[in-house]
Amino acid sequence: MKPLRLDALLSRYGYCSRSEARAWLKAGRVTLNGKALVSHSDKALPGTVLIDGEPVEFPDGLLVVLHKPADYVCSHDPGEGPSVYDLLPPRWLKRNPVVTTIGRLDKDATGVLLITDDGDLVHRWTSPKHKVAKLYEVTVDADLPPGLEALFAAGTLMLDGEDKPCLPAKLEIVGAREARLELTEGRYHQVKRMFASQGCTVTRLHRSRFGDITLDGLAPGAWRAL
Ligand code: URA
Repeated sequence: MKPLRLDALLSRYGYCSRSEARAWLKAGRVTLNGKALVSHSDKALPGTVLIDGEPVEFPDGLLVVLHKPADYVCSHDPGEGPSVYDLLPPRWLKRNPVVTTIGRLDKDATGVLLITDDGDLVHRWTSPKHKVAKLYEVTVDADLPPGLEALFAAGTLMLDGEDKPCLPAKLEIVGAREARLELTEGRYHQVKRMFASQGCTVTRLHRSRFGDITLDGLAPGAWRAL
């Protein structure tokens, strides 16, 4: 991170707009080594200043894991109902670049949801090229058909409307209607569509791991910095 102009710094990290920054600085709210920094055009390293006596939040970029509860959408559109972004501190939503989820979970799905302001990370962790494994716990409405592990592992399963088969996926059957599925790609509604292609409707979907990251006891709706 390079030194930033103080008005740019305050708006970059979501504290206030660039135009409000002059008043924040005049009021002595930004300090370095105990001294107020009052000129908006002065520069400082984000990790070195205090704002209202507190260090800048995530000066080198934000990455957190949220335990997504059911009934929240992964969308910035307020028209879509309660959003996972409502579960985060409001200041994060004013950061620039904006915070975004690394991939999405459906409204009814729960579990590990990563949130960051680092666009490169989003690309690296969602591109199938990088093969980041995601583990899903699945319950379906009918007994799982025989041979499903081999079918999902084969890398030949074609989903409706797609022109390439799904990459090989690891399925572990844990009950007549329960399984764990590990995917290294993230197509639209992929887990539900894979099971639907075999006559099973997913009734519960929980992501328990994304790469190496698990919830580790995090309560639904709570987040933890990574
Ligand atoms: N697959 C789905 O069908 N839904 C999700 O939310 C994630 C993966």
